[in-house]
Amino acid sequence: MKPPNSQRPRKSRIQAARDITAADLGREVVVLKRSPKEFYGKGIPGVDRSSLGGRLIVIEGADGSGRSTQLARLVDWLEGTGHATSQVGLKRSTLVSDELNQAKRGNVLSRTTMSLFYATDFADQIENVIIPGLRAGYIVIADRYIYTLMARDLVRGVDRKWLENLYGMAVVPDAVFYLQVSPENLVQRNFAKDFGLDYWESGMDLGISRDIFQSFVEYQKRIIAIFQDLQASYGFRIVDGNRHVDEVQAELRAGIEAVMKAPGPTA
Ligand SMILES: Nc1ncnc2c1ncn2[C@@H]1O[C@H](COP(=O)(O)OP(=O)(O)O)[C@@H](O)[C@H]1O
Ligand SMILES: [Mg+2]
Repeated sequence: MKPPNSQRPRKSRIQAARDITAADLGREVVVLKRSPKEFYGKGIPGVDRSSLGGRLIVIEGADGSGRSTQLARLVDWLEGTGHATSQVGLKRSTLVSDELNQAKRGNVLSRTTMSLFYATDFADQIENVIIPGLRAGYIVIADRYIYTLMARDLVRGVDRKWLENLYGMAVVPDAVFYLQVSPENLVQRNFAKDFGLDYWESGMDLGISRDIFQSFVEYQKRIIAIFQDLQASYGFRIVDGNRHVDEVQAELRAGIEAVMKAPGPTA
């Protein structure tokens, strides 16, 4: 029989804290070294690169590739190990996101206009979320970044040089993980999540097929090919996102731990 609580030997606070460290964290706490950032091009006017510390981690992948699932776990893990995080994603800026959603519903904008709309939203988030976060030494986690924006435009025939110039405002991330998932798995997961496929993520505006399933699979194949092409220039890591959630998470954590220890990009 167990003794009542009052009779159990009580641990000192220090001992209890040690136990928590050993059991819950299981590892040393990583203290971030300074890591000045680069821009891909001209950057944002008036921003001093050397004032930026922290880390910028990007998770890329199609709709249904598991970004939200992985991101939520990464944030729990990072915050649980004492790191301040902030999150950023596409179409979240308060500046233009309402207008962007309206424009998408209308399906009437030209490719260049749509492209500039997204770029405006992105610039707003760089300036108001990413840069302040890095300046404060946070681990900023981006749910998609310029690569998705570029891939969507490239598949629609927009000029690559023009896009590279446009996204020269972007900070070079410390690590980019691209969750690559087969189109067939993406279809299943999108149905599990939203009971359907998104018009734009299926490339329906491209006239590939009137059948949204066929269009989705073909469009995602083209996007995967473009990501593989972009990978050669931008050097991000391709992570096999078809695997179990835990396996994908373990690979992401190992990669992030490496960039937290290193004072610069490891990819
Ligand atoms: N590795 C995985 N294996 C199987 N299903 C997954 C996996 N990761 C996510 N899912 C499921 O797929 C759906 C889409 O995941 P989600 O994280 O919302 O993707 P995203 O944010 O990239 O659109 C959800 O129902 C989620 O539970
Ligand atoms: Mg998501």
